Amino acid sequence: MQFTVAIDGPAAAGKGTISKAVALQFGFAYLDTGSLYRATGVKALEVGRGVIEPAIAARLAGALSQTDLDRDDLRTAMAGQAASKVAALPDVRAALLQFQKTYARREGGAVLDGRDIGTVICPNAEVKIYVTASDEVRAMRRHAELVQTKPKLTVTQVLSDLRARDERDAARDVSPMKPADDALLLDTTDLSIDEAVSNAIKAVQARLK
Ligand code: CDP
Repeated sequence: MQFTVAIDGPAAAGKGTISKAVALQFGFAYLDTGSLYRATGVKALEVGRGVIEPAIAARLAGALSQTDLDRDDLRTAMAGQAASKVAALPDVRAALLQFQKTYARREGGAVLDGRDIGTVICPNAEVKIYVTASDEVRAMRRHAELVQTKPKLTVTQVLSDLRARDERDAARDVSPMKPADDALLLDTTDLSIDEAVSNAIKAVQARLK
């Protein structure tokens, strides 16, 4: 059986948590597509000694290994910013396209989360969900994650980082972040994790029937 669940939305809205829970519930595979851009971004920074060179970034994107995706520095704010810079480069997106499309149509079902899954990678996905939350709530959630390794980090810093990234992601010419016309909008601002997950699971169940 092929069945794709496309979960998109801005930074720290809850996509990852919801995607993992949906994948577990239905036995689907899960791909965090942000990790592809994060891995490309940090490698491009390393190779360019702090400067991202578009042609090099595209080459690196086309040659990512599992080791690159397993790096433990991919969740840092710096990796997030680097990701959104390389993600605006058409050749980087092109290099990552086929891998994601193939993953989405694998046997047994797949959940992919990102920014352009419902619009570009899988326009025919069986279920599309666009997850949002207020800027402040997203900043608090991401701060709680990052402060464990960066105790001096403030919510204000995280908020401005998220806003900069959202702006870049929504304004780029190629595959900008936006809800697909037929996506279910899920605002998690006032929802617990369980409530958000249960809404997503219901949407998948309804389509599986
Ligand atoms: O976890 P968070 O929502 O903060 O970010 P992420 O999903 O790991 O994505 C990091 C960055 O990669 C985003 O800010 C986007 O610039 C880019 N990205 C993208 O352009 N397209 C995707 N399908 C996934 C991520």
